[in-house]
Amino acid sequence: MKQTKENTPDSGIVQWESPSNIALVKYWGKSDIQIPKNPSISFTLQEAKTITRLEWKRKNTSRSQVEFDFLFHGNEKPEFIPKLEVFFSRIIEQMPFLKNYHLRISSENTFPHSSGIASSASAMSALAATLVDMEMIVNPSSKTDQEDFRIYASEISRLGSGSACRSFYPEAAIWGQSSFSGTSDRYAIGLGDHLHPEFHGYRDAILLIEQSPKAVTSTAGHHLMEENPYASVRFSQAQENIDRLLVILKKGDLEEFVKLVEAEAMTLHALMMTSDPGYILLHPRTLEVIQHLHAFRKDTRIPVCFTLDAGPNVHLLYPEKYTIEVEDFIKNELIQFCQDRQWISDRMGEGTKKLSSSTK
Ligand code: DP6
Repeated sequence: MKQTKENTPDSGIVQWESPSNIALVKYWGKSDIQIPKNPSISFTLQEAKTITRLEWKRKNTSRSQVEFDFLFHGNEKPEFIPKLEVFFSRIIEQMPFLKNYHLRISSENTFPHSSGIASSASAMSALAATLVDMEMIVNPSSKTDQEDFRIYASEISRLGSGSACRSFYPEAAIWGQSSFSGTSDRYAIGLGDHLHPEFHGYRDAILLIEQSPKAVTSTAGHHLMEENPYASVRFSQAQENIDRLLVILKKGDLEEFVKLVEAEAMTLHALMMTSDPGYILLHPRTLEVIQHLHAFRKDTRIPVCFTLDAGPNVHLLYPEKYTIEVEDFIKNELIQFCQDRQWISDRMGEGTKKLSSSTK
């Protein structure tokens, strides 16, 4: 291994994967920089993920900005560069060593970009994990244990995309100051054994209703909350919903879970509709799915509920033991509302994971 005078490798590669997550109590509204107006809780997903490879080479000159190339599925993507530049400008104070290296970032998703699946969550959490891992290699005195690694990487990823900070943990995570011990506005923590066994292995069937890029980015949507007339009521409601959801998750109360999760989804879209300008991000087929779902739940008493992100796609959340019934229902009744009959059978996952590393 070629080593510098600081005795660290000149170049190296690390590769990580990180999943998306689905919020139950939504993050919608923030202040600078990426500080949420209310806490949020999410389930970590498994199949919808980003795989990111970071290759670094030491440079002889140090610039004030981070120098990087970015490839997405092997192609240059100029439209992603401004977001990455903003991200690097925000993290450079915490990660000044980055100025000494040239970075090559190659990333791929297991799902369509801008499909309404939180692609920024998986992308930014995977990237943050590679950067923190690189720091531990080029700056060995920064070695951290697994929990510190997650908290640090969660904080770094938040500066790229708020929801990304919740993707690091197995099963479920909470971000934002709340009654739950250890929570912070700067990073997320895992809910750990707070979760009742009813929720282990929870399923998320993601119905891809319309895959055209979103009419409004979530960043722009967050800013619309600054002038939204219902904002302050929403922020205190979210605090109450966090407390309610924590009790529900602890007790395994599926009936209350269904009510709260659907109310949160509808509130998110009500907030968008009541912003100035107002946005309708739901598609008529989203409403068809919701109506069919409600009829199915009434008939079968299976506790399957829907949630939504800032887009038209529908996430169906349900306990693992009903997988056959719910997947049959999707194939028989709901698939007609999905664009190109596409849906993703996802479930609760383990969070961010290291795939490989090497140094020279
Ligand atoms: C509706 O994390 O995408 O999915 O911080 O501006 O990158 P930025 O926004 P982002 O917002 C996600 C909003 C949401 C709800 C949620 O995931 O909590």
